[in-house]
Amino acid sequence: MEYKDLISRIKSVRNYKKDAISSEVIQKIESYFTKSKKLIKDIETEAMIKNKDEVYDKLKNIAGYNEKMIDAPHYLIFLSEEKDHYIENTGYVVQDIMLKAFELGVGSCWITIHDTDVIKKKLNIKSKKKLTALIALGFDKNKKKVLYENTSEYNPTKAQVSIVEDNVSERPRISDVVYMNKWGENADPDEIANLGLLEAFFYARLAPSTKNRQPWRFIYDNGTVILAVRKDPSINGYESKIDTGIVMLYFELIVDGTLFDIDWKFGKPSKEYEIPSDYSIVAYCTV
Ligand SMILES: Cc1cc2nc3c(=O)[nH]c(=O)nc-3n(C[C@H](O)[C@H](O)[C@H](O)COP(=O)(O)O)c2cc1C
Repeated sequence: MEYKDLISRIKSVRNYKKDAISSEVIQKIESYFTKSKKLIKDIETEAMIKNKDEVYDKLKNIAGYNEKMIDAPHYLIFLSEEKDHYIENTGYVVQDIMLKAFELGVGSCWITIHDTDVIKKKLNIKSKKKLTALIALGFDKNKKKVLYENTSEYNPTKAQVSIVEDNVSERPRISDVVYMNKWGENADPDEIANLGLLEAFFYARLAPSTKNRQPWRFIYDNGTVILAVRKDPSINGYESKIDTGIVMLYFELIVDGTLFDIDWKFGKPSKEYEIPSDYSIVAYCTV
């Protein structure tokens, strides 16, 4: 896949045409389920695509921001074995499937889920695995993505309002999300470019996140990239872990495509970084 191109153009689709996706395209997406990238290879997963009549009415006041279910012609349902970091793995795998769908012309949107066992029961899914993602799928009715670069200080409230109400995708500058050596030292893009990491951070910053809160910050320290994620009171652990898995995918896709393969490790490196109490270090990798 041409990941850079796909990542720059993909956006959350909330307004779908009524048209169903052809069975050939559905099959192509389904056949990608087994080929998709995986963050943790030994976690067994399962995915299925269901039609609107099997899903929408059943989840109408249950799933989505403020229980506002997205009306789409199809839904992707993803299930996973419950092992360490299975939710981050879900974010990573499912976003890769969404990129594949987008390459095939199919729009998508994550739908927030709370009590996943209730959803599984409502959808009459018998699998023993945990339902870990619900995604709307179909053809986009709206105009193309408009990407606004934040020129002022990063302002999560502004970002939330603009994205959810106007369907635009605002993102902070690279220097606002990447720190050099220690927390708060905004990175100079020229320095990042010299390290060969400018593109990786440029595209990682485009990762979708719950309520577009863009919770990720990176510290580059002497060949190690440390990923920290903000804890927001309005966001539950599930959403935060999905956001983490997605940004890990985006960063890795670009580094793997331009430099060499990286291997994310969960947890903190041995060195202590003094980060604010509302953030926690979730993973790191050597670049
Ligand atoms: C875990 C997760 C849950 C989300 N849940 C919803 C949702 O329930 N309803 C919705 O309209 N958008 C949802 N979104 C989409 C985000 O709001 C969207 O990705 C973000 O605003 C950035 O916009 P973009 O994807 O167009 O770049 C969710 C995104 C993620 C990653």
